[in-house]
Amino acid sequence: MKPGGVALVVALVVTVGACGGGDDGSPTTPTNPPPVPTTDPDPLRNAAAVAGKWVGAAVQSSLLRNDATYAATFRKHFDYVTAEWEMKWDPLQREPGVFDFSGGDRIVRFAESSGMNVKGHALLWHQATPAWVEELSPPELRIAMEDHIRTVVQHYRGRVAVWDVVNEAIDDSNGGLRDTVFLRGLGPGYIAEAFRLARQADPDALLVYNDYGGEGLNQKSNAIYNLVRGLKESGVPIDGVGLQMHLSAAGYPPAGQIAANVARLADLGLLVNISEMDVQIRDLAGDAASRLQRQREVYREAVGVCAAQPRCDAVTFWGFTDAHSWIDEFFGEDDPLLFDEQYQAKPAFFGVEDAFLGR
Ligand code: XIL
Repeated sequence: MKPGGVALVVALVVTVGACGGGDDGSPTTPTNPPPVPTTDPDPLRNAAAVAGKWVGAAVQSSLLRNDATYAATFRKHFDYVTAEWEMKWDPLQREPGVFDFSGGDRIVRFAESSGMNVKGHALLWHQATPAWVEELSPPELRIAMEDHIRTVVQHYRGRVAVWDVVNEAIDDSNGGLRDTVFLRGLGPGYIAEAFRLARQADPDALLVYNDYGGEGLNQKSNAIYNLVRGLKESGVPIDGVGLQMHLSAAGYPPAGQIAANVARLADLGLLVNISEMDVQIRDLAGDAASRLQRQREVYREAVGVCAAQPRCDAVTFWGFTDAHSWIDEFFGEDDPLLFDEQYQAKPAFFGVEDAFLGR
């Protein structure tokens, strides 16, 4: 335990006990405070605040509700939240015209009861588009897109601070726009249209383009840069770019390249955020301790780029505990996040803390 750890455990118990509501913000009968991990570092949000950044993670409403340690750990360390999937098109509007905001609403209520800001993710993403959208004629598709963006952004107006408006629109092989239902039906102008619709529906929300694989300097980051520069120059209401930052410690862009890329985006007058960070270590050689140490260094380097850049406003991790990571499901068993499966802070956690504190 770090010096002062006992006092911090007490402080956490008092804080959690003082919240006086369910984890989704609904009133509940007081219960015993949730178990807190024994090794209990300072809140990460305090370190992020020193750097002037928001620090967030993607979460699932069922875990906030059903796993007290998950909720307490998240509430203690983060001041920014993104729905891992519950605010995508498919869960929100699985059938045409039938909206289900229950999961997203639970996450927003949790955020409000914990003093957190919310990022909505994501209005248009080809992978979370319901099957019925794929069958629409171009005129029907335009109406469906307008209706979806208006309804969702208006529903959360004033409660969601930032929206990922378009996610992953760039093709990996050629740097052109990805072949999606939106490009096929509406042409390349769909991206500008989506941003304009979102701005109309909530003039105060910051609007972001989000993508992966464009962290360093390469064909993808050039394509992202050209896309957002074109939008800016045409007066499209775009405020920022999200760099997902799904990294592998076995091979990732040098920090200098990430810094140069973030700087050129910032020079367009855009905000930049790290939007979905995790660091895979499965492919590293060496024992567990050395791999975790290497992971710490990767987190420190990449988050350090954001900490040093005034126009980088936030860092979001794609989950926070190795007990729940999409990486296991999509790429194979790994330990890519800041807390282990027992909610103990890993070396990676301290790498992020060091980055925020400029160490
Ligand atoms: C992933 C979620 O983590 C999964 O739970 C879901 O089933 C699929 O999507 N890029 C993104 C995120 O922008 O929305 C993805 O999240 C991960 C890759």
